Amino acid sequence: MSKQGELEELMEIAKRRGFFWPSFSIYGGFSGLNDYGPLGSLLKNRVYEKWKRAFASVGGIEIDTPNLTPEVVLKASGHIDKFLDIAAECGSCKNRFKLENILSDAGYEIVPESVEEGEKLLSDHILKCPRCGARLDKVFEFHLMFKTESGSESYFLRPETAQGIFVNFKLLLNYNKGKLPLIVYQQGKGYRNEIAPRQGLIRQREFNMAEAEVFLPEEGSEVFAPSGNREAQLFDKYGKTHTMDLSQAVEKSVIKSAEHAFFMELILSFAVDVGIDETRLRFRQHRDDELAHYSSECWDLEFNMEGSWLEITGISDRGTYDLTRHMEKSGENLAYEGNQIARVIEPATGVDRVIVSILLSSMSKRDSGYNVMKLPAPMAPYRIAVLPLQKKDGLSEKAQEIFKRLRSMEPYTVYDESGTIGRRYARQDEIGTPYCITVDYETMEKNMVTIRERNSTGQIKNIDVELLFSHPDFLSNPILDQFGSQ
Ligand code: ATP
Ligand code: GLY
Repeated sequence: MSKQGELEELMEIAKRRGFFWPSFSIYGGFSGLNDYGPLGSLLKNRVYEKWKRAFASVGGIEIDTPNLTPEVVLKASGHIDKFLDIAAECGSCKNRFKLENILSDAGYEIVPESVEEGEKLLSDHILKCPRCGARLDKVFEFHLMFKTESGSESYFLRPETAQGIFVNFKLLLNYNKGKLPLIVYQQGKGYRNEIAPRQGLIRQREFNMAEAEVFLPEEGSEVFAPSGNREAQLFDKYGKTHTMDLSQAVEKSVIKSAEHAFFMELILSFAVDVGIDETRLRFRQHRDDELAHYSSECWDLEFNMEGSWLEITGISDRGTYDLTRHMEKSGENLAYEGNQIARVIEPATGVDRVIVSILLSSMSKRDSGYNVMKLPAPMAPYRIAVLPLQKKDGLSEKAQEIFKRLRSMEPYTVYDESGTIGRRYARQDEIGTPYCITVDYETMEKNMVTIRERNSTGQIKNIDVELLFSHPDFLSNPILDQFGSQ
């Protein structure tokens, strides 16, 4: 369930426990920049791994291209001319805001496209500064890319990883033996000079992306179609909600193409698989006035956070836009099979927002008031914690011995002996560790340990220590079956 104040609560836990926090804080902090701590880094890697597996499982291949992008590439892609926001400045405190957000907060779903349109909106409506309440009075264009120079060359930090894929189309097609479909994915940083970065990982100036460009043959070939095994909420551009599976959505023309629906289904399955609460997800179709300059159709997967919707992935139909532009500007032939231009469906995931959505979906409280992060076991930063009941009587040494053996098998194992056993269980619950192994006097006498499961707090006693090592993947060890699935 989405609830007010949940993000702030998460940010407190995240900082205290080592998931993420604002960067450069010893110098006062700089907005829009955040660090992942040790637990967050593990979680992020798991999200990337799941994302890549989802695309590899339908034939995708990965590449890795530079963050620094020459001006000529972004001129061709249209970002230099079109990747900007219409912003407004407060007449009193001089703070600056994205005008689209101010309008949306005031109940108007309009995306102004020019300074003139913004000025007209500002004179037609009384729009107030969210910081000080004075009237907003100046409208201007705000470019979203960071520019840098080297000698006479101009570069930008990439606003999306996608262009690194488009410019390599010819080499990649060749790698794919000249055949379509061709699915190429990339993970990495994206940079946007957001006017008003806020809400920690949600709106940053540097963020983590995972994008795939799916190159398809001509319209009507329908190389991918949804299986129809997932029902979704689809909020269309006319404001109507449809609850149906994604193949029905194609049949009923709610979604235009089967390929688009296939990748929506794939992204939805990924989101649920990494631990996002399905009941808090919906797809929203872009209105025509909010489509990016390269997009003819777009569905966002949104997560309900504190009662409003947060985009976590955009699934866009980019058509032949990018390849055509790069062909014109570079002079290279980017056609396939003679003179055909591949069309493109693009799922673009904001990994940081996925991480926030996973954590908010998992965050819960026991009756005692203690926090429990009910992450799916394979996503949890640490899979096992080894805890001696007490430090004395050789328990500590025995626990260390078991810990070191377990860690050589499952590296994401942690050891904790500080504080009471109750406090240590609470600490592991708060960071989402699914299983704790307790070493006690039974271990010393009979080589038996207790395993405690996070969600139920249920315990299985008298487990022979050797059984812990009987299966190479601890999470699939049949001794855990007694707890049921997580
Ligand atoms: P928004 O409307 O929230 O600004 P957007 O439409 O600009 O997002 P896209 O261009 O579709 O976002 O980017 C793809 C994904 O990257 C988004 O779904 C989102 O998860 C993520 N994303 C975009 N901008 C940011 C940002 N400033 N900080 C963190 N994640 C971002
Ligand atoms: N590549 C899509 C996006 O940046 O939104």
